[in-house]
Amino acid sequence: MDAFKVTPWEVSGAIDYDKLTKQFGTSRIDTRLRQRLVGACGGDEPHHMLRRDFFFSHRDLNLVLDDYEKGRGFFLYTGRKPSKGMHIGHLVPMIMTRWLQEKFGANLYIEITDDEGFLHKREYGWGQVQEAARDNILDIIAVGFDPERTFIFKDSEYIGNVYPLLLNAARRITGSTVKAVFGFDDSTNIGLNMYPAMQTVPTFFEKKRCLIPCAIDQDPYWRIQRDIAEGMGYYKTAAIHSRFLPPLQGVAGKMSSSAGQETAILLTDDEKTVKNKINKYAFSGGQATVEEHRRLGGDPDVDVPYQWLSILFEPDDKKLKQIHDDYKSGKLLTGEMKALLIDRINAFLKEHREKRRKAERELETFMHKGKLATEMWAKIYE
Ligand code: TYM
Repeated sequence: MDAFKVTPWEVSGAIDYDKLTKQFGTSRIDTRLRQRLVGACGGDEPHHMLRRDFFFSHRDLNLVLDDYEKGRGFFLYTGRKPSKGMHIGHLVPMIMTRWLQEKFGANLYIEITDDEGFLHKREYGWGQVQEAARDNILDIIAVGFDPERTFIFKDSEYIGNVYPLLLNAARRITGSTVKAVFGFDDSTNIGLNMYPAMQTVPTFFEKKRCLIPCAIDQDPYWRIQRDIAEGMGYYKTAAIHSRFLPPLQGVAGKMSSSAGQETAILLTDDEKTVKNKINKYAFSGGQATVEEHRRLGGDPDVDVPYQWLSILFEPDDKKLKQIHDDYKSGKLLTGEMKALLIDRINAFLKEHREKRRKAERELETFMHKGKLATEMWAKIYE
């Protein structure tokens, strides 16, 4: 038995990502593939989350690049299950997706699964799910996607355009498959048993290959999609998977909103809250006293503030290395590392709040009126 578990519904234990790629049957993103990606998008540096192996695994990324080079192109798809308060971990796939859209000029579909949220979160009424959806959509728009090439839709709204397509997928997926893949049992409500078919639907929006940036927990859906896609006359979807942004309490797990407010930084946290949370809860790789820290140095590998800088908040490799080396040698103290992170997060959130305010004005473009949105509302899928 492995000491860790990763499904879309549960992440626990210390995750061995190499083992996980074997378990899931995905491939590691290696240096050659990273170089190919860079070459294909015009010789730029790969995004730091790719450079630093945070996006570490893929399915068929090589085929996506083949398609791109042959001029066939590809499209992007990602998503979000609405709930109150997105945390900074939820931005990981969104930031990667924006980078890919910028570099490759691809169409992007963002599925807001209000159906999934309602079925899963029994404590939410429909109105609360809708409120959370609107709120999350504003945070997503603030990430900065191309409004003419991005379609953001709620499942409950767009379902009329895709219902036959959903049924076509659903009749190919058995109860025993979803039980085995998602750990459902006889007490799981029947809505959730149907839901996985809905998450495959956007992969069929174009007769091109679809590329999905997400954390590795979502891969089980893509396994199902890949079993049914060719039978339906579509491509098996491709994906790139990230590791998890860890919670404040330690580098082993996954930041998750259900684990409690003190484990995550929410996009709505104000400056004081960020400061308090980090100072109080962030697991440190430093020594117990300043004197010992100066003498023995800290361990950046288990230090949550360092890990967050590396994953999200310090894109400059040289600066990051300096922080790493200074921490290891004992020159940089735990309190200083935390202060650095607090500054970065607060600067980031300040900008995010600004962009979110502007996002109010763009909501209609992304959901109904932009070029791609208009095209999508005119389509009926079978
Ligand atoms: P949801 O809303 O749980 O999560 C949204 C996205 O955030 C990723 N994620 C994380 N990434 C890094 N570190 C973390 N700590 C972390 N926590 C969550 C998730 O992997 C996901 O990519 N069923 C989906 C909604 C969905 C979807 C999709 C997601 C529908 N279609 C297509 C990705 C791609 C869900 O519940 O995501």
